[in-house]
Amino acid sequence: MSKDKMQSQAVQTTGHAWDGDLQEYNNPLPRWWIWTFYLSILFAVLYWIWFPAWPVAKSFTPGVGKITYVDAKGVTKTTGWNTRADLMREMNELAAIQKPFFDKVAAQPYAAIAKDPDLNNFIASAGKQLFADNCATCHQAGGQGKIGFFPNLADDDWLYGGSFEKIQETLIQGRRGYMPPFGEALSGEQIDQLANYVLSLSGEKMDTAKADAGKALFHSETAGCFYCHGDDARGRPVIGAPNLTDKIWLWANVPNADGPSTKLAAVQNVIKSGLNKGVMPAWGQRLKPEQIKVLTVYVHELGGGK
Ligand code: HEC
Ligand code: HEC
Repeated sequence: MSKDKMQSQAVQTTGHAWDGDLQEYNNPLPRWWIWTFYLSILFAVLYWIWFPAWPVAKSFTPGVGKITYVDAKGVTKTTGWNTRADLMREMNELAAIQKPFFDKVAAQPYAAIAKDPDLNNFIASAGKQLFADNCATCHQAGGQGKIGFFPNLADDDWLYGGSFEKIQETLIQGRRGYMPPFGEALSGEQIDQLANYVLSLSGEKMDTAKADAGKALFHSETAGCFYCHGDDARGRPVIGAPNLTDKIWLWANVPNADGPSTKLAAVQNVIKSGLNKGVMPAWGQRLKPEQIKVLTVYVHELGGGK
């Protein structure tokens, strides 16, 4: 008898042989494996009985498990267990935890809210959630906005004002900035001069002679920029006309321009075409007053409000 044959006879095999001498061992399954197997069958059976599980014709077996929850109208209901009711129940639990905080926010003036550490903690989390659900699609998750589209809420520069009252007004009413186009009223040369002046205000490279001519135009009746942006070009929050003397840009993409001529072109383009695309939706009808208050404080904190 060969050495190989002796070895294969030492353990039990299934008795089949392939390719002449290829055999299969017949070992018992490990005990832990068997038990896990039986337990998972038991689990599946209990699961089928408890939860909605099997499809039958046009419906499904509802399961014997019950769930009690309060529906959107405030009515307490008990039904067969289902994910929708489970979600309602979880949301109710969360709302119940949040309610006393929302009530406190609703009852207190902003100055008191800002000084209350408990409320501040609450606003940091509830405000973050509300912001993520309603605002982050436009203003981005951290409120940093997007040049050319949505203002940065995380800096301390404000189009419409950064006090609690002004931010709340922005949220309730919405905002729509408007600057008329000057492509018809002014010549290309005048627009070029104005753009050089605007760049000079924030310390960008430009042509000084053109900027001087632009400065005169800015304050003249011909262009009338000062009506909206102010004599000092620091903006007028009542109409959302921005401060042109800081290095913060929303519409003219100066920060990402790759050189002086691209910066100039970006500013020229704004003056030529005007602006009518900055639309901040109104939330007064869509959110509850206390939610708006939470968001107001949240945004105020984001941007180091004023
Ligand atoms: C559809 C996009 C969009 C959504 C959603 C949106 N915003 Fe705005 N928001 C804008 C735009 C655009 C402006 C700038 C309006 C302008 O240029 O006149 C703005 C302006 C603002 C301002 C004024 C900033 C300043 O400098 O004065 C605040 C504050 C603000 N949004 C907060 C919010 C909050 C809070 C939410 C969520 C409840 C929100 N926004 C949702 C687009 C949006
Ligand atoms: C009727 C009021 C009004 C007049 C007049 C006006 N602007 Fe504006 N300007 C605005 C408003 C409002 C915005 C911001 C629009 C927005 O946010 O939706 C703006 C934005 C700008 C911007 C973009 C700033 C940025 O952050 O990208 C520049 C540059 C500018 N104005 C320059 C001028 C110059 C130069 C003139 C004169 C030729 C002028 N504006 C006249 C109201 C005005």
